Amino acid sequence: MNQKGGVGKTTGTVNLAACTSEAVGPDEQGRNQVAVVSSDPQGSAVWWAERVEKQWAEQNEHGRKTQPLPFDFIQHTGDPTPLSRLRNSKRYKHIFVDTPGWMGLNPREDEAGQDPLDGGPAGDVMRAVLDGAHNVLVPLPAEGLCFKPTWRTIEKVLKPRGVPFEVYISDWDPRDGTIDRDPATGMFLTKELRETQEFIDKYGWPMSPIVVRHYRIHTNAAKKGQVCTQYERSYTALKAAEDFWRTAARHGLRGAQQRVDAIDAATSVEGAAV
Ligand SMILES: Nc1ncnc2c1ncn2[C@@H]1O[C@H](COP(=O)(O)OP(=O)(O)OP(=O)(O)O)[C@@H](O)[C@H]1O
Ligand SMILES: [Mg+2]
Repeated sequence: MNQKGGVGKTTGTVNLAACTSEAVGPDEQGRNQVAVVSSDPQGSAVWWAERVEKQWAEQNEHGRKTQPLPFDFIQHTGDPTPLSRLRNSKRYKHIFVDTPGWMGLNPREDEAGQDPLDGGPAGDVMRAVLDGAHNVLVPLPAEGLCFKPTWRTIEKVLKPRGVPFEVYISDWDPRDGTIDRDPATGMFLTKELRETQEFIDKYGWPMSPIVVRHYRIHTNAAKKGQVCTQYERSYTALKAAEDFWRTAARHGLRGAQQRVDAIDAATSVEGAAV
């Protein structure tokens, strides 16, 4: 979740859901145990899901074997109440909710004690999503422009509700600098990353150690109708998917840790053919 548009919410949601689904596998009846719920009326996740299904249908028509979406996809419309009950789902083990950038902010939000979510439908949807959430992931690109909206999202919307959250740096282009850290202090060596880390530390927000890097393969994936577990096997594709596998592993999924180890082994020789 982040009030700022285009920070990687949908990219993070669908790819993390894909890794999680592959790590937990199907249930005894062969059904997906992971779902993505789009609460975004603009619906970029819907568009994504439709592309995947279309691609699948087209390719199968031509006799090629491809996979369908590795999770169930549900577009939410109408009464937001069911969103507030997602945490009690018996049907799914993990549910990932994609949220819109637009949250229907209250025009009086700057007044002390005012809830920045407005009284209209967008605010109602966001309130229900937050009532039903165990945990919120907040993607934050290492760009000063994203700092203020992220501050509002966390300080005005998440913290007052007491919803656990974690910030992660998203969409970092490895060509703009290394993600290595000073071993003594744990601080990033690259300026923009370090500034972002300092901004997060300043407010004491919990931060994921994993930086989700920018790879063109992710940008193209939606157009091609793919999620990261379906990328062709290449060095770059493995590195790109690795960030989502690491994130899934961090949430205690053993199958995901095995994938991280396999990717480490396969990519440990720089540029190795895999
Ligand atoms: N790690 C990444 N690598 C490459 N491209 C990325 C990455 N993260 C996001 N993008 C691209 O940036 C654009 C915005 O990403 P995305 O749609 O995930 O953001 P969003 O926060 O869901 O946006 P909105 O607020 O409009 O819903 C998309 O074109 C996406 O493909
Ligand atoms: Mg989106």
